Amino acid sequence: MEILENFNAKYLEFNKITDPRGCLTYLQKGVGLPFDLQRVYYLYDVPGGAERGAHGHRSLEQVMIALSGSFDVILDNGSEEKKFTLNLPNRGLYVGPMMWRSLTNFSSGAVCLVLASQPYDESDYFRDYDNFLKEVRS
Ligand code: TYD
Repeated sequence: MEILENFNAKYLEFNKITDPRGCLTYLQKGVGLPFDLQRVYYLYDVPGGAERGAHGHRSLEQVMIALSGSFDVILDNGSEEKKFTLNLPNRGLYVGPMMWRSLTNFSSGAVCLVLASQPYDESDYFRDYDNFLKEVRS
């Protein structure tokens, strides 16, 4: 597992049970996730060249997984930006609070599963990058 110093994000390596019939990865309370799961959503049929995300969260924690295909996650903590490519169903990207994220470069047929620590709450979002910067730097 790669842990990035001073960056509230890290790769998570999940279990992978392989046999001649294929592979299986499971996540459950206390196994594989650094928070109690409250919500699941997924992105799919993303057209080539489209960008998702482009927002930040005050308190939400998420884990993103490329269930199929690949995409890039650009994370910005207000002073540094890093790009992560997700393309393995048994690898997740943990993203902590106060990180601006954009998802780009979706391959054809890519499916992005997002596991979230809280139910949907629009008031937790930063939709404006300048507001996010102000808050994260204060
Ligand atoms: P949006 O935040 O733009 O998606 P993304 O992070 O992929 O760019 O959300 C698109 C719409 O879906 C928006 O109207 C809010 C709604 N939505 C929900 O109702 N519940 C959810 O859990 C999420 C993530 C989004």
